[in-house]
Amino acid sequence: MLPSSGPFRTRMISIFLIGCILVLSGAESALGVKTRYFKWEVEYVFWEPDCIEHPVMAINGQFPGPTIRAKAGDIIHVDLTNKLSTEGVVIHWHGIRQIGTPWADGTASISQCAINPGETFPYQFVVDKPGTYFYHGHFGMQRSAGLYGSLIVEVADGEKEPFHYNGEFNLLLSDWWHKSVHDQELGLSAVPMRWINEPSSLLINGRGQYNCSLAAGTCKFTGREQCAPRVLRVLPNKTYRLRLASTTALASLNVAVANHKMVVVEADGNYVEPFEVDDLYIYSGESYSVLIKTDQDPTKNYWISAGVIGRKPNTTQALTILNYQSVHGGKLPASQPPVTPSWDDYARMRSFAEKLRTLSRSYLPRPPLSHHHRIALLNTQNKYGGQTKWALNNVSLSLPATPYLGSMSYKLKGAFDPTPPPESFPGDYDIMVPAANSNCTVGNGVYVLPFNSTVDIILQNANALSANTSEVHPWHIHGHDFWVLGYGDGKFVEGVSDKKFNLKDPPLKNTAVIFPFGWTVLRFVADNPGAWAFHCHIEPHLHMGMGVVLAEGVERIRRIPGQALGCGLTAKMVGKPHP
Ligand code: C2O
Ligand code: CU
Repeated sequence: MLPSSGPFRTRMISIFLIGCILVLSGAESALGVKTRYFKWEVEYVFWEPDCIEHPVMAINGQFPGPTIRAKAGDIIHVDLTNKLSTEGVVIHWHGIRQIGTPWADGTASISQCAINPGETFPYQFVVDKPGTYFYHGHFGMQRSAGLYGSLIVEVADGEKEPFHYNGEFNLLLSDWWHKSVHDQELGLSAVPMRWINEPSSLLINGRGQYNCSLAAGTCKFTGREQCAPRVLRVLPNKTYRLRLASTTALASLNVAVANHKMVVVEADGNYVEPFEVDDLYIYSGESYSVLIKTDQDPTKNYWISAGVIGRKPNTTQALTILNYQSVHGGKLPASQPPVTPSWDDYARMRSFAEKLRTLSRSYLPRPPLSHHHRIALLNTQNKYGGQTKWALNNVSLSLPATPYLGSMSYKLKGAFDPTPPPESFPGDYDIMVPAANSNCTVGNGVYVLPFNSTVDIILQNANALSANTSEVHPWHIHGHDFWVLGYGDGKFVEGVSDKKFNLKDPPLKNTAVIFPFGWTVLRFVADNPGAWAFHCHIEPHLHMGMGVVLAEGVERIRRIPGQALGCGLTAKMVGKPHP
């Protein structure tokens, strides 16, 4: 089913070839390595993402922000200017590990200070691995305000993807609210909490249709520049790569192309053993590449749909059109869009997740067979002073004023809680019922990991505040990829559940979901000096404290750019001025 491809070059061969080229010509351009410069300005603009006008956070007047395309090994340089009048801003490069450049990770209070209005911050980093990535705001809930875009890394010159295709399309998935982000943030911290509710609409490449009903003929597929979908024009009997990435604030999605099978080949910027599916589950923070063959009746058009799963949906599907070239572009498909599978079929979702395997003939690393260190994180919904929070081992994250990276490398006193948060939770905790005591604490301590150690993280889901409820949470790590060793129902049992791990070819990802009342185990090597966020990628959940901070090898970091350092400093941290 996978079209035959040319020989897949291993990393060793490529290093050898690069070595030869270097000897031959020695120039940077011979490597094909380029610095790609961008000048970006962030500002609010009026836009109609779902045909209804609202302010959105745009880059250079565009929503979504400009797509970056680069080749593996390139250097990306973005000078980001904050043109918002009253808010700070940062941009995170989701899926890029920032090896050697932890200050360019773009996380407010962790890797840098928020960039003040009028200021410019230079982000410079290497995109080391081909794959489908994206970028987004990482301060407050600015991702929900529309601050995001695609980052696509192609293979380096002379390299080949381990699969063949004739053309590609990029589909960046998101969700959209008619309620402003400030309104959302205020509601989430209010007593009692005011939930943001389900999205007004789902967007593909920033385009959607509020309350679009095919039956009622209310959808607009042409004409409206900002909300009409970009139609995917294809030739018959070819193979196309669809790059899918989800930067949703809340929604977990199921994507399908009517009448066409999909072959999954990439997940989160890592090649996977190809497998065929009718539809694909994608959670916030994930990205996939799938191959489709245009082998259906070329006199017809086909719907591509994305619908909400994992929560009771109250949002219409996002729709776009796969347009065979012989058909007039404005012609709507005669058949119905694919039906989204039932929203609470978690067994089906898990079975999709368990199909992922690292591509066998790839250079991607396999996990160490044992761990040095294990951290179990109990995911609970709690109360703190009347507010609703999410907590890990009963601690809800509240970020400090001074970014960890700077305060840790300069050993500033009092910048954050020096006591690390708990690495486990009481063994008799009953995950199937609401906590006996719903109160949690708030904190900003750090899990400091020994450099180069192999770390397991057991994510344990539990009942939320109300009985018989447990939610899906997609956990995303910064600065690393992790291997997803396994999923299970109920409580993780040390020494028993471990037996079910896949240590042979687990997928390497940067985001993995925990299912209701279940556990997920991740393994990674703490080999990238920096301070890194690890959090639920659901924007309101992170806002309510659902994250932790990991750090390793901070003492090895040299020369943090000054602009990433100075904010929230007090006299106590920096010591007395010289007389
Ligand atoms: Cu895409 Cu910390 O997030
Ligand atoms: Cu969550």
